[in-house]
Amino acid sequence: MEERKRLFIGGRWQEARSCEELRSPYSGEIIAEVPVADKTETDEAIRAACEAKAAMAALPAHERAAILERVAALLDSRIEEAARLIVLEAAKPIKAARAEIGRTVQTYKFAAEEAKRIGGETIPLDAAPGGEDRLAYTVREPLGVIGAIMPFNFPFNLVAHKVGPAIAAGNTVVLKPAEQTPLSALYIAELFAEAGLPSGALNVVPGHGEVAGAVIVEDERVAMITFTGSPAVGKSIRAKAGLKRVTLELGSNSALIVDRGVDLDAIMPRCVTGAFSNQGQVCISLQRIYVHEEVYESFVEKFVKAAKRLKQGDPFDPETDLSAMISPRETERALGWIREARDEGAKIATGGAVKNGMLEPTVITEADRQMKVSCREAFAPLVVIGSVKSVDEAIGEVNDSSYGLQAGIYTTDLFTALGAAERLRVGGVMINDIPTFRVDHMPYGGVKESGTGREGVKYAVEEMTETKLVVINKRLG
Ligand code: SIN
Repeated sequence: MEERKRLFIGGRWQEARSCEELRSPYSGEIIAEVPVADKTETDEAIRAACEAKAAMAALPAHERAAILERVAALLDSRIEEAARLIVLEAAKPIKAARAEIGRTVQTYKFAAEEAKRIGGETIPLDAAPGGEDRLAYTVREPLGVIGAIMPFNFPFNLVAHKVGPAIAAGNTVVLKPAEQTPLSALYIAELFAEAGLPSGALNVVPGHGEVAGAVIVEDERVAMITFTGSPAVGKSIRAKAGLKRVTLELGSNSALIVDRGVDLDAIMPRCVTGAFSNQGQVCISLQRIYVHEEVYESFVEKFVKAAKRLKQGDPFDPETDLSAMISPRETERALGWIREARDEGAKIATGGAVKNGMLEPTVITEADRQMKVSCREAFAPLVVIGSVKSVDEAIGEVNDSSYGLQAGIYTTDLFTALGAAERLRVGGVMINDIPTFRVDHMPYGGVKESGTGREGVKYAVEEMTETKLVVINKRLG
């Protein structure tokens, strides 16, 4: 059912000067009319966030925590309604959408807890000559206005990873949701209003990156940009953000190493989930698998068999494992990469076609490392499986990437595992798990083109606060 949505600015719902139709990526049907914030409206949102700064900074920690707890409770009581919004606007299969809402509730609960433990430290200044007779301590203060620019792939939980810590730390937020997924962000704004967040502390301005996004990035009243998305956009944000703090969670072509001696049947469900969950549109989606040559054939056979069993279709069907990608354009782009790999000599072990508008789960073997399916972030239901002579060789392959978000290794040998943990150039190493593992309080972020800074609520709170030093001179003379 089509519905006309509004901007959320200064605690009020405001008609936008311009609106666009939003379509379901699965059915193509119009699902809503959504506001497209122009420069003036985005500027109003920033002004509202500035005006709310003092009220938010003055709000005691227990009150910030209570608001976040109320949001978590409200969302928990509306799991089905919220999950259906994700299905509608992102074509995420309903079982994965429900799981995302479950995680989002957790993320807001973690944020509520972190709000109560933002502390500083005392510094022994007398460790340096001249520092005697002084007491020194630090406090962490909110930065002010945080600009949050969102991707489409986790429209509730990645918003929670930015809004939760920002509010926990006493900041205000101007949030620009992804163009395809504004409904989830507007929904959460409603819950924050119901939970008693001061007006102006959260402002939601759906719109285009080059208009609303650009205004947020370049405005000097905004103290920090937190962005999740592509390296190209991340780099351009960094170039335009001036002296703002910038946290970038960018993509990856995440890899897994499978050593010999591992029980392949036991790990297969995890591997298949890692590759195809949310149609592979996850920054830590399993895109490359390097399997020891002794078990390679067997691994590929089992993986292909499991991939073929996945059910693809209507995201509202509780049996569906994967559905349509976010847009026909993205589907075509991924299909083009698969065709290019095949034309250059790779083998398509299963999938590789678009049926009913959906890219099939695709397994590629014998791909070269310079093919796009290997070296670029696919963000699609495709995985490349290669054979290696040793874990050493596999580590070299994993590291031969411009990205470095998370990596995984399955091995039965402790020394092999620890060696890999030491040598893999990524933000997180998962031993005996896929790189796609994430729970919401762990530090999360990458190296190289995968970004800078860390999320995971406690770590995001650190990014969103400033350390202030206080020194007390105990003698006046
Ligand atoms: C992401 O795509 O960056 C988020 C992955 C997750 O939270 O599981």
